[in-house]
Amino acid sequence: MSDKLRKFYITTPIYYVNDKPHIGHAYTTIVADVLARFHRGKLGRDQVFFLTGTDEHGAKVAEAATKANLSPQKFTDQVSARFKDTWKNLAIDYNHFIRTTDASHEKIVVEILKKLKDSGHLYDGDYEGLYCVGCERFISESELVDGKCPDHNRVPEKLVEKNWFFNLQKFLPKIKSAIESGGLAIYPQTRKNEVLGLIDKQALPDFSISRSKQAVPWGIDLPWDKDQKTYVWVDALSNYITALDYPKGKDFEKFWPADVQVLGLDILKFHAVYWPAMLMALDLPSPKKLAIHGYFTIDGKKMSKSLGNAIDPDDLVKIYGAEATKYLILSQFSFGQESDIKVEDFSVKYNADLVNGLGNLVNRVTNMVEKYLAGDIDIKNWPSDLVGQEEIGNLRFKEALGLIWQLIQKDNALIDENKPWQLGASESSGDKAKLKKLLQELIMDLYIIAKSFQAFMPMKSQAIVDIVEAKNVQKPTEPLFPRLNN
Ligand code: MSP
Repeated sequence: MSDKLRKFYITTPIYYVNDKPHIGHAYTTIVADVLARFHRGKLGRDQVFFLTGTDEHGAKVAEAATKANLSPQKFTDQVSARFKDTWKNLAIDYNHFIRTTDASHEKIVVEILKKLKDSGHLYDGDYEGLYCVGCERFISESELVDGKCPDHNRVPEKLVEKNWFFNLQKFLPKIKSAIESGGLAIYPQTRKNEVLGLIDKQALPDFSISRSKQAVPWGIDLPWDKDQKTYVWVDALSNYITALDYPKGKDFEKFWPADVQVLGLDILKFHAVYWPAMLMALDLPSPKKLAIHGYFTIDGKKMSKSLGNAIDPDDLVKIYGAEATKYLILSQFSFGQESDIKVEDFSVKYNADLVNGLGNLVNRVTNMVEKYLAGDIDIKNWPSDLVGQEEIGNLRFKEALGLIWQLIQKDNALIDENKPWQLGASESSGDKAKLKKLLQELIMDLYIIAKSFQAFMPMKSQAIVDIVEAKNVQKPTEPLFPRLNN
């Protein structure tokens, strides 16, 4: 295999800095973290690059900064730091955190803009529309409810202005064939069909890449038109290559095209159409795969600041710890589906799967090895076949964890059926041999279980591997998953 194939580049979207991260943002990031860890395990640390960051320009940010009585830069420094804190609390192991206000990003975006212009992909025209400051975009009449933007409950402003446009039309046939051939894979299939539908319906007009300074006061200047600022998508999407130091950086050479770009369905069009078109205009290959997850609601309702119902991942970490939180989030929802989150399900699942399932199994088995074999389990060859690995590679996290949990259940049932405490009390050598064989099987299963969920809970995985591999197997002194206080 060539070196170019033996690498893995994975990205999350860069998050808007209007507020602290919520569970929706955390979901995208945790998925990428698990995939990055999974591939690090296979390819080695140096061969994997996991990128996340924050999207910091735009009218909405300028507005929020004014409200907070801060300069936009100070404001974004603060909010961006909150994202970093949350990712730290969740033990997210990214390689690079990009901010669109990084000088290096801004500089490369200017180069990208110049290239797009010089190669004739941009033209100027009049843009006329309803602009919602909340959405940071012009919105269509059909999206309005009672004349207001439904997301922000505000009347949009009418705007006509000169903008620069990107000639998207020219690229659509090529994008269509890349998607159809799988060169640009879109997972799951429903989202692929959705994008192809947009192309077929000709619902994809050229998009504007700039706004007047009045409309967007906080952003990157267009290098050839000082009255205009770069509008969100060219600035934001470029992050995936500016972070690698496009065009000449070593990381760019090594890692582009991205292997998987994870995102939510709300930004599918931008990633599946605008982004490949921009890349084609720059003569660059498209990402290999876009992995699109569904939107989360909380108790059937949209998560929103005004409803105050957003779940803060930091609160979950305080209760369950970083690794259990990641496990609980990925094990409850199938990737790609729209899912409803119920807060009370977290504690039920924590108790069932982790405290009473996995934690209890580790205790039972190590306790018996200590008691009946004096800690000496005598295993010559550790198993190498793990469970659920194909599923993880294919973004089927819940299903992978489900397979691992089948093994835990099988083991608990094996103990109940074989009643090792009776075998242990027996004087017969046949029973003693049977007991040893049973405990060996259980210890090897614990090893398989721990190694199989390594990408989800690396510290817990290592703790279990250390326990079972020890010369003298002992029951853990601290519970792997502490019981909840109430
Ligand atoms: N800044 C843009 C992305 C630019 S990428 C070049 C953006 N930011 S965002 O903060 O609004 O969203 C970032 C990610 O979080 C998206 O993948 C989005 O789908 C995800 N989620 C935001 N709210 C969500 C839910 N309620 N549920 C699931 N995911 C959600 O878009």
